Amino acid sequence: MDITRLLRPDLRELQAYEAVQSPESLAKITSVPPEKIIRLNANENPYGPSPRVQEALGRYRGYHIYPDAGQRAMREALALYTGAPADHILVGAGADELIDLLLRATLQPRDRVIDCPPTFGMYSFSTQVNGGTLVSVPRDRDYQVDLAGVKKAMGPRTKVIFLANPNNPTGNLTPEEVVLSLLEEDILVVIDETYFEFSGQTVAPLVFRHPNLVVLRSLSKWAGLAGMRLGYGIMNPFLQERLMEIKQPYSVTAAGEVALLASLRDMPYLRRNTEALIQERERLFSRLAVILGLRPWPSMGNFLLCDVSWGKAPQVFQELARRGIFVRYFDTPRLKDSLRFSAGKPEHTDALMSALEEIFQKP
Ligand SMILES: Cc1ncc(COP(=O)(O)O)c(C=O)c1O
Repeated sequence: MDITRLLRPDLRELQAYEAVQSPESLAKITSVPPEKIIRLNANENPYGPSPRVQEALGRYRGYHIYPDAGQRAMREALALYTGAPADHILVGAGADELIDLLLRATLQPRDRVIDCPPTFGMYSFSTQVNGGTLVSVPRDRDYQVDLAGVKKAMGPRTKVIFLANPNNPTGNLTPEEVVLSLLEEDILVVIDETYFEFSGQTVAPLVFRHPNLVVLRSLSKWAGLAGMRLGYGIMNPFLQERLMEIKQPYSVTAAGEVALLASLRDMPYLRRNTEALIQERERLFSRLAVILGLRPWPSMGNFLLCDVSWGKAPQVFQELARRGIFVRYFDTPRLKDSLRFSAGKPEHTDALMSALEEIFQKP
């Protein structure tokens, strides 16, 4: 029997999302032992979650009970944290789940979704999985959004635009005027603020005036909970209700709920680490800037994009991997000559920099 007949033909061309490799599989690529591997490839938080998360998870006694699908405690806690009312907040298994959910709620076959590459790959991936048509409007040479190009690309079937703010992997912010201009259009404007705690800039207050605005956030980066899968959206209560209706009720686990609540009770710890990563990002920037052949881009996230001269990016990636330092190389036309480095602990920056100095000193 030919089971391919049963599968959606449009998914045959789907480009699988390139997830980062696990420490175990990275260990196979290098002779460096797993505990010595430095992961600067997924914008994870090397300080990890608040110690209160471990304690709370150990103490929790409700794992045999389904979590609260209404997310009441989490939404109340996030309301206090964000200043948005609880009925404007929806929690998901990572911002990723909410990207998918928004598209499931809006797209009919061949409806259009706009993204502005280079940007986060989940927008195009989820658009394809949900049967939509992706319209990519490339950023300009400085990685700014091409507003006129975006407006030109809009048509009657355009439903959603995604903008990461700050953008991954370029690190820059889109000015609020651009967001306001997009909000005049008859489409859903999704501003992905996964790196908000590193940039300190948000358009969330605009949600109260603009029912077509959705702000996405994540606990993966600043709160060190990437493995726990926790994100949330701030949006108009009508949309929040509709999304809640079509969402898998238990995608956020009981453990996720415990972790989120414990994290938000330990803000000083999380703020300290966020501040440390911002400082490290800036230190990394200054050190990269003095190496001939490298050009870092200023960033408002917990990572830096860095141009590598002479088409050497793949080679530098390999050389770093050989030394047990994993960074991100994107093999796309715009990013062929760039690497992305996540901000790490000071010792990670030092190890990365000595490796780069060694690589770039070679004739
Ligand atoms: C812009 C952007 N949005 C969303 C995500 C995914 O966030 P989460 O881990 O909450 O699914 C990432 C992760 O790298 C990202 O860079």
